[in-house]
Amino acid sequence: MHPHVLVYWALSLPCVAGRVLSTSNTNGSSDVVNVNWLEGKPALNLGTTFGLPWPKGKHAGDRVAFSAATVDGEVVTLQSWVTSYWADGSIKWTGHAVPGSESVPDGYKVTVAKGTARKIKKRTIKVEDAEDEIAVDTGKVKVSFPKSGNVLVSSLSTSSGKVVGKNGKLVLQSQSGVADTGDSSVNKDINYYQLESKINTTTVDEDSSVRTLVTIRGDHRVTGASAATHDPWIPFTVRFYLYAESDTIKVIHTLLFDGAADKDFITGIGIRFDIPLAGEELYDRHIRIAGVDGGFLNEAVQGITGLRRDPGAAVRTAQFEGKKTPDVSTWATTVSSRLQWIPAWNDYTLTQLSPDGFTLKKRTKAGQGWVKIPGGTRAPGLAYLGGATTGGLAVGLRNFWKRYPTSIDISNAATDAGQITLWLYSPAGEPMDLRQFHDGLGEDTYAKQLDALEITYEDYEGGYNTPHGIGRTNEIYIRPFDSTPSSDDLAAFTEFIDEPPVLVPEPEYIQQTGAIGTYWDLPNSTTTTQATQTIETHLYFLNKFYQGQIEQRKWYGFWDHGDFMHTYDTDRHTWRYDIGGYAWDNSELSPDLFFWNYFLRTGRADVYRFAEAHVRHTSEVDIYHLGPYSGFGTRHGVQHWGDSAKQIRVSTPIYRQIFYFVHS
Ligand SMILES: *[C@@H]1O[C@H](CO)[C@@H](O)[C@H](O)[C@H]1NC(C)=O
Ligand SMILES: *[C@@H]1O[C@H](CO)[C@@H](O)[C@H](O)[C@H]1NC(C)=O
Ligand SMILES: *[C@@H]1O[C@H](CO)[C@@H](O)[C@H](O)[C@H]1NC(C)=O
Repeated sequence: MHPHVLVYWALSLPCVAGRVLSTSNTNGSSDVVNVNWLEGKPALNLGTTFGLPWPKGKHAGDRVAFSAATVDGEVVTLQSWVTSYWADGSIKWTGHAVPGSESVPDGYKVTVAKGTARKIKKRTIKVEDAEDEIAVDTGKVKVSFPKSGNVLVSSLSTSSGKVVGKNGKLVLQSQSGVADTGDSSVNKDINYYQLESKINTTTVDEDSSVRTLVTIRGDHRVTGASAATHDPWIPFTVRFYLYAESDTIKVIHTLLFDGAADKDFITGIGIRFDIPLAGEELYDRHIRIAGVDGGFLNEAVQGITGLRRDPGAAVRTAQFEGKKTPDVSTWATTVSSRLQWIPAWNDYTLTQLSPDGFTLKKRTKAGQGWVKIPGGTRAPGLAYLGGATTGGLAVGLRNFWKRYPTSIDISNAATDAGQITLWLYSPAGEPMDLRQFHDGLGEDTYAKQLDALEITYEDYEGGYNTPHGIGRTNEIYIRPFDSTPSSDDLAAFTEFIDEPPVLVPEPEYIQQTGAIGTYWDLPNSTTTTQATQTIETHLYFLNKFYQGQIEQRKWYGFWDHGDFMHTYDTDRHTWRYDIGGYAWDNSELSPDLFFWNYFLRTGRADVYRFAEAHVRHTSEVDIYHLGPYSGFGTRHGVQHWGDSAKQIRVSTPIYRQIFYFVHS
């Protein structure tokens, strides 16, 4: 395997399993590499993957064995694979997975030893690859992944055997046209489509000792509920990562847009799970929706606080804390005799239509009016639905507010089968409009197009402004609970989703291996001069400046998150967001390399997170992954896919390689 083959248009940066290496104890020469938490020790250790570079010629072929221990010396099982080789055949980059653990170590030490490996046969994840489904048991969660049909996750249960998630599937809705703003009349010419995932293949990686990767590919098909028919479309790849000793499933959801901008308007992209609630009293069913600063909407389907009559403090406290309430026979009869008059809240919705505000509402059932709940600013995108005894499911979307319009629905909570739908694109937002922003301006000859380039700097040619083939990846986390978790536990999990813990080697080590070239050095090298210090000051400024501009200019949204603008308009004092060839940057001047190299040199977490969002955007949205331009990127412009210059300089894998190998 050659590195450039591995990262070629690595849209969702999957962990491409190379040669599988054994975990072992050996004698012989060995060295030790430290890996540390990017942001310091996290609150939760739910399993992590990381990458390590190795010097040329040091570890030949596969006659090496990797092992790991915490910095305190406790041995942990390690899964290892090669992601890249040097030209001489020695190992250049490896990927490694460590399991989850109750106590979070300060960091890990990876030891590599030469010699023939003595295999430790310690399989901690159970994987059953049957004809019709793949079943995975991490010791903390059991999940079944069907190989056909529309359901990606047929059953999800806790280690004690409670089924807390069923019928996990993708949902999509779209329409064939949009009404102009202000035109509220029903347009009879518009068709509306309801679609669901349809599996083509479900596969599991060969080595599943510490981390199992189940990959499901397919597309979306219309369902019986659809008013009109539509060809199968929006191909997806959904990767489920499960770690030994971890109950949390990381889901990397990638879709490709293969529609036509003028007749395919997406109005919702979601993932939906059923949550069995049969047998749980309505007052023991709990809703949790994450708000800002670790706070939660904290309610029961049938609330027994704040009523005219008091059921007793023990009952109120239990319900508020998400614990089973004392037997109803012990309640004040002034309440227990009147439960039938207390409404049950069946449906909840949180909607984030801008990066700065979300709204919340609930209703007792379809056909009744919604009741507004006080809203807030930036929702982290996590919800839990479950019961004190039946358990439940938490589902969260990373970058929720940054990827607006997003929303979360909790539905049918008063029935036997509740539901959580996480909307990566909210049905409450406007239809996704990917049409070109101008009508061609009469540029129907090459001479006119060239002349237009002189003034707006846009490289325009009819037919080239197409979103057909661009992609987007979202990161989702699913976690089962045996009983309703405490708000503190859910807050820790919300923090985990916001910045999933990352393990990285030290900058000195990466530099010494030469695996990302020898052209760079650490900021405090022996060659520091006044001139290099000036450059360091500029680099520091530029990184902070672009991070600040994203927030100041609100460069957020489903397709936009991660990119920034190309050129500034000093008269209007705004970036040239509306000027042909200037607006979105689309990797112009290779900022991908700049930011990732700056991370390598500094090891700074803010730089990593900024560069991560950026590389995801540029590798997904600015590049075609199917269709006639597949493999090409698009030059900078007002729309990420708008300019007619389709270029390899934008899609070049070298922009993505550092993230690919480090993140692994
Ligand atoms: C390492 O070498 C020692 C001494 O030769 C031997 O007793 C031991 O079994 C070896 N360990 C492994 C893991 O091969
Ligand atoms: C479904 O999977 C098969 C086998 O991998 C592949 O050949 C085929 O192209 C896929 N079909 C679609 C529609 O993706
Ligand atoms: C360089 O070293 C000095 C002194 O040890 C330290 O204060 C400074 O933060 C270092 N700079 C960088 C960029 O690491």
